[in-house]
Amino acid sequence: MRRKIAAGNWKMNKTLTEGQAFLNSISGESLPDGVELIIAPPHTHLAAMAQEAKGLSVAAQNCHWKESGAFTGEVSIGMLQDIGVNTVILGHSERREIFSESDEMIRQKVDACLETGMQVIWCCGEPLEVRQNENANAYIMGQLLSNLFHLAADEFSKLIIAYEPIWAIGTGETATPQQAQDMHKFIRLAVANHYNQSVADELPILYGGSVNPANAAELFRQSHVDGGLIGGASLKVDTFLEIARSFS
Ligand code: PGA
Repeated sequence: MRRKIAAGNWKMNKTLTEGQAFLNSISGESLPDGVELIIAPPHTHLAAMAQEAKGLSVAAQNCHWKESGAFTGEVSIGMLQDIGVNTVILGHSERREIFSESDEMIRQKVDACLETGMQVIWCCGEPLEVRQNENANAYIMGQLLSNLFHLAADEFSKLIIAYEPIWAIGTGETATPQQAQDMHKFIRLAVANHYNQSVADELPILYGGSVNPANAAELFRQSHVDGGLIGGASLKVDTFLEIARSFS
């Protein structure tokens, strides 16, 4: 039995006051058995929200790999853990594309997080032209190889992976359930080949990219889709809850 996860990535949205109101209205709402909720708000909200959150985990959207130092604008893992934040999203395509995060930087972040007991939601995903040229599998394999496959099996097995095709993020265009299933199956097979079958069987693989209440149930019904990393539709309690209740 793999974990079932609905994770909300708020990106640069909501004030702290709005985030706290969201937490108030979502707490106590019932969920299907075993479904885990994660919310990743902006850094400024983390301390307060991590303290107030009941029944869900609060995650950071990024962190640096060094313990401290002259890195203007960055936040360390120790700073996050000190305020009760134990999960972080790494390698989101917006970090890779807009903020020029390289595979090397992401690899260092993954290493530092796993060494310090931080749970990582690692994102991968191909651009549109790669999908159109039918090179998506090779592209994702490249990301696995350069960001993750240097890890030992016991470290790798602490990860959550989010497959987020770039062409589906914030565009309203979702991968079809079959496209998501095929890529998740490909990732799981690559993990089984590189590590072993039990690491692959346990690995939660989330789909991200325009998940909404209308498409979540069909996506989550796919045997290799273990939940979602949800952007726009995680900003409202109602839609986020509806998605979290879409696991069958
Ligand atoms: P979206 O974002 O649901 O708004 O497409 C998903 C993500 O970027 O994590």
